[in-house]
Amino acid sequence: MGDRLPSGDAMTSAFPVLAQQVGGRPLAYLDNAATTQMPLQVLDAMRRFDTHDRANIHRGVHTLSQRATDAHEAARARLKAFVGADERHELVFTSGTTESLNLVAQGLSLPGMPSGGGEGALQPAWLRPGDEIVVSALEHHANLVPWQLATRRSGARLRVVQPDAEGRLAPEALAPLLTPRTRVFALTACANGSGERPPYEAMLAMARDAGALTVLDAAQAMAHEVPALASLACDLMAFSGHKMYGPMGIGALVGRRDALDRLVPLRLGGDMVEWVSQTDAGFAELPQRLEGGTPNVCGAIGLAAAAQFIDGVGRDAIAAHVEALREHAAAALSALPGVRVLARHAHGSAIVSFVVDDVHPHDIGTVLDGRGIAVRTGWHCAQPLLERVAHGPTTRASFALYNTHDEVERLVEGVAAAVEMLR
Ligand code: ALA
Repeated sequence: MGDRLPSGDAMTSAFPVLAQQVGGRPLAYLDNAATTQMPLQVLDAMRRFDTHDRANIHRGVHTLSQRATDAHEAARARLKAFVGADERHELVFTSGTTESLNLVAQGLSLPGMPSGGGEGALQPAWLRPGDEIVVSALEHHANLVPWQLATRRSGARLRVVQPDAEGRLAPEALAPLLTPRTRVFALTACANGSGERPPYEAMLAMARDAGALTVLDAAQAMAHEVPALASLACDLMAFSGHKMYGPMGIGALVGRRDALDRLVPLRLGGDMVEWVSQTDAGFAELPQRLEGGTPNVCGAIGLAAAAQFIDGVGRDAIAAHVEALREHAAAALSALPGVRVLARHAHGSAIVSFVVDDVHPHDIGTVLDGRGIAVRTGWHCAQPLLERVAHGPTTRASFALYNTHDEVERLVEGVAAAVEMLR
């Protein structure tokens, strides 16, 4: 564990939810790929806003509205710095990765009103018949289903880059799919279903060289790896607060201004317009153009506090810790008879997903819950991936900075006991 990672009592005081018993045992919370817990620092930042500054933004000259607006914009600035954005980039707040990816896929495939107004004239969709969109077979449904709809809507074609038998995604598998017709390449930074961490840096660069708009689903990376946007061949990147020690219901789409400018706004209404007549409207500049309606101001403040928390602990220390836990769990689970760990080889991942011969994951999850261990079981919203690499649902443990090697030992003992009992 890195020097700055809190341990023992300090950890349970920093994350109050962890200081409880489940099934008569101390809670071992190993479902962090679904949702991480929030430290006091984040809870306090949100409470301060709600008890001192709470008001709507961009709408009032009064003091609280101005404070709330300043806090919202300060949160945006902190998050842009956190993800390594530069002056070419802008950050749009959304409700999370799913909304961000829907905004991209729908924003590229729907016709829209011209930003500057212009009655009657619809701006054609950016995606056209004959275009190709490439995704990988590792994707969460949120980076697949919106593209399925986008292709049907626009007449474009969806192509899927396939992993090898062990679930590895290789740049060589992408090369034949990139053609002059490729307009979008969308990829995960870490597969939530298997724990595979694809070589996304190289694959995004290949797609950019081929002329495609590149999209990265960074939901499973932000809590530890935090890709530095300006160093990637990435036009648009999506992430969620609740997977990086922040609140639920907030996330972002961050990317190049020219890429964000291509998106047709989906949330039409207040705060995203410059002027409105009875029959027409002119839209505001980025980021407001894509942020119609009252935003989740408290969530944005909590998300920025989570970024500050991660920076304070140290990204490298967090990454080294969760990767060591993953390696420990993957090695010990693989040694159990009848247990197969997906993407056993993976590095840069905090997720261990596994199947047990003749035992249903829900039964394993129930036995583990009885021992105070929280894991996720099922398809993990990644059914095509799991059909391919696991031939069914899996049990998944996923790690955060507050987890320990003792908890990994408890997980392994619990799985061994479940297998013994259920087989
Ligand atoms: N996408 C979340 C997960 O992987 C919910 O569990």
